[in-house]
Amino acid sequence: MKLSVSGRASAAAAVAAVTLLATGFTAGAAPASEPVAVTAAPDIPVANVKAHLTELQSIATANGGNRAHGRAGYKASLDYVKAKLDAAGFTTTIQQFTASSRVGYNLIADWPGGDTNQVVMAGSHLDSVSSGAGINDNGTGSAAVLEAALTVARTDYQPTKHLRFAWWGAEELGLVGSRYYVNNLSAANRARISGYLNFDMIGSPNPGYFIYDDDPAIEKTFKDYFTGIGVPTEIETEGDGRSDHAPFKSAGVPVGGLFTGASRAKTAAQVAKWGGTSGQAFDRCYHSSCDTTANVNDTALNRNADALAHAVWTLSQ
Ligand code: TRP
Ligand code: ZN
Repeated sequence: MKLSVSGRASAAAAVAAVTLLATGFTAGAAPASEPVAVTAAPDIPVANVKAHLTELQSIATANGGNRAHGRAGYKASLDYVKAKLDAAGFTTTIQQFTASSRVGYNLIADWPGGDTNQVVMAGSHLDSVSSGAGINDNGTGSAAVLEAALTVARTDYQPTKHLRFAWWGAEELGLVGSRYYVNNLSAANRARISGYLNFDMIGSPNPGYFIYDDDPAIEKTFKDYFTGIGVPTEIETEGDGRSDHAPFKSAGVPVGGLFTGASRAKTAAQVAKWGGTSGQAFDRCYHSSCDTTANVNDTALNRNADALAHAVWTLSQ
């Protein structure tokens, strides 16, 4: 709902953070006669997202070809992400848990400031399966969430709400890390989370553009972004409940997210709207050894990273 540009840009925002006028994201919160200032999300540089993928690939290659729970490649991935966030000024926390007799880790990064009674979270699983490097699943989500967080810091974005970013361990063992996090939140802290946005597989090589059909306000925020760039979307149906938003949803937290498809085949109708190869999986390297940096569609990754930023910025004001 782009209305008009006020012409005031944040001094800190060297990266085009334009101030727009729009009504608030909560339906009915602001009457049309009293618009609230909204800072548009900056563009997320896809080259930076890809640089994180290159690092995750190198980590896998140096550690037996994977970044799986309980393996050295997982911890190295966590250390890489944490170091970037610490250098950028985030408050990071490592949460340990045990799964399949091995230690697992979640990484939580809080951006100082904002109303901690209204927390907007964005997260992704950082572990791969043991059969490959897990670059589309889920280096893509992990790298895009990381670059969005680093862009928050780079632009010194100071939203009304509090921002928290998360990288989950042991998703591939059955959402273990995210469930552990949600189960260990007090009821009060759970109630403070106004929304959780999940990004799991957002650069599939034969991509579709799928939006989770959960919280309507979050879903609309993602839809608005894709409508604005002229890309049709569909409701995500391949894996309802198969990623880290599920524990949040079960706990009553509003959720949403993006997905570009896994082992399901792209139909002729989907090729007509998105291009690509009919009858072939969205990701034919899903959970296999060919899920490398070659297994990513840059256009899909770029669009989804920008949609992620649009949602984080829009929902946190
Ligand atoms: N990480 C998920 C898994 O291994 C990937 C996945 C499959 C997914 N289907 C999904 C993620 C639908 C989000 C939505 O099962
Ligand atoms: Zn997976």
